[in-house]
This record gives sequence, C-alpha cells and structure tokens, in this order.
Amino acid sequence: MKGVILAGGSGTRLHPLTRITNKHLLPIYDRPMISYAIEALVLAGISEMMLVTGGTHAGEFLRLLGNGEEYGIDRLLYAYQERPGGIAEALGLAERFVGDDPVLVMLADNIVERSFRPTVEAFADQGKGARILLTEEDDPVHLRHLGVPEFDQQGHITAIHEKPESPPSSYAVTGIYCYDPQVFEVIGHLEPSGRGELEITDVNNWYVTQGTMAYDVLQGFWGDAGESMEAYYAVNDFVRANGVNKP
Ligand code: DAU
Repeated sequence: MKGVILAGGSGTRLHPLTRITNKHLLPIYDRPMISYAIEALVLAGISEMMLVTGGTHAGEFLRLLGNGEEYGIDRLLYAYQERPGGIAEALGLAERFVGDDPVLVMLADNIVERSFRPTVEAFADQGKGARILLTEEDDPVHLRHLGVPEFDQQGHITAIHEKPESPPSSYAVTGIYCYDPQVFEVIGHLEPSGRGELEITDVNNWYVTQGTMAYDVLQGFWGDAGESMEAYYAVNDFVRANGVNKP
C-alpha cells in the first residue's frame, strides 16, 4: 500500500503564523507538524510515500525530511500543488506514483494518538472501494467545521455532509482515507465546489453511492491542528501531556 500525505493549502485559519511558513512546518510540541503524519504512516506499515505540498516554503520540507531514511521510509517522493485547489486535487497529483496500488491518504494537520494500522490491514482484506476513519464527537459546534457521516439503521454510511449546519450524527470524518486506484478516475470527473475546490467529501460520497465505502472508528485522541488557533493549541497541549502515535 502506498501513502500520500497532503500538506498544501493556504492555512488561512492560522494566519498570521502561516504568512511566514507552511502550516505543516509549525511546531507541535517538539517537532514540526508534518513529522507526526510521517511517523503515523510508518507506524501503520507504509514505507513508500509521496508528500504533496505547495506555496512558498516547499523547499523546507526537503530540508527537514530529505529522502526519508531517518524516518524509516524506503522511498519518499514530493509533488508540488500550484494553487490550493482542494484536497482531492492535491491527491490527484499522486496518480502516477500510486499506479495500480491501493493508497492511504492522510491530511498533514491530523494528529492521532493510536496507530491506524488495523484500518490499513482491514483495507487490504477489503480489496476494493474505500475505507475511512471516523472519530466520535459530541459537540455540534465542532462538527459544523468537519465532514459528518449520516448512517442508516444498520450503521452503514448513507451520505457524508461537509461542514453541515445541522450535523446528522455525532461522528466526524477524520483526514485519513484508504482508496482503491479507481479514486483517480473519480477525481478526474469532479466539479469544483462553491469554494472552487475539488472536495474529498465528493470523492467519499461517490464510494458511498457505489456501496463500497467502509469505515472504522478511531480509538484515542484525534485532532485537526489546522482547524483554528484554539485547536492548534489544544493539539499541542495533548501531545505534550500524553504523546501520540502509540502502537
Ligand atoms: O481534518 C478533517 C477534515 O478535513 C474533514 O472532517 C473534512 O471532511 C475535510 O474536508 C477536511 O476539512 P478541512 O476544512 O480541515 O480541510 P482543509 O482545507 O483545512 O485542508 C486540510 C489539509 O489538506 C491541509 O492541512 C493540507 C491539505 N490540502 C488542502 C487543500 C485545500 C492540500 O494539500 N491542498 C489543498 O488545496
């Protein structure tokens, strides 16, 4: 399974910090944010990955990560997203790297306490379609900033709503997704959303309509450090007090 880490975007919610660097290079406790996603993929057994970034500080990632050897990566490739055209657009840049393999995608501002290796293994057994990680979230105010799944009575996802006014469940979609290689065909047919981006939620809803979307619920802490300044500091506090990326 290949890995793709997405570290583009404009990081406007962390302005003015992100005027002088890329969001994913900001510190989380004692390391740049991007290190946590790299570590999480390695812990999940993924050793070939592509990092997609953009903006004016892209060269700093090379300086930090080099060819990835220090992190236990066999092959680390880079791609450059010319403008922040959305998560799905950023993933599209990894098409040739991924080829005919399944792929795990992680948003580089997501931080997890526990390894998602079980999801990677379950997706290998699943063989096709998609598999996403959800986290329990009771606060409707928080859910309005995230993707939120709607379920039928059997617990199958029937739709995912991006930043809904009225969240249909108390689960959020994290930024950790497994896809079969068909995902690139799906991305190729997407239309930009109202905010002019190719949305990962549209990709996920395509798999939902095909009946091939599975999910797991992540155990332990999950944080999106790019969501707001408050969230950035809450993630910092958690990492400092408890540590993350535990097997
Ligand atoms: O963190 C989980 C949430 O991430 C999900 O619940 C949402 O369904 C999903 O849409 C996403 O929402 P965000 O509002 O957090 O997405 P954001 O625009 O902040 O982008 C998240 C990461 O994706 C960002 O840290 C880098 C990468 N990205 C984003 C864009 C827009 C790119 O690499 N390129 C891009 O053009």
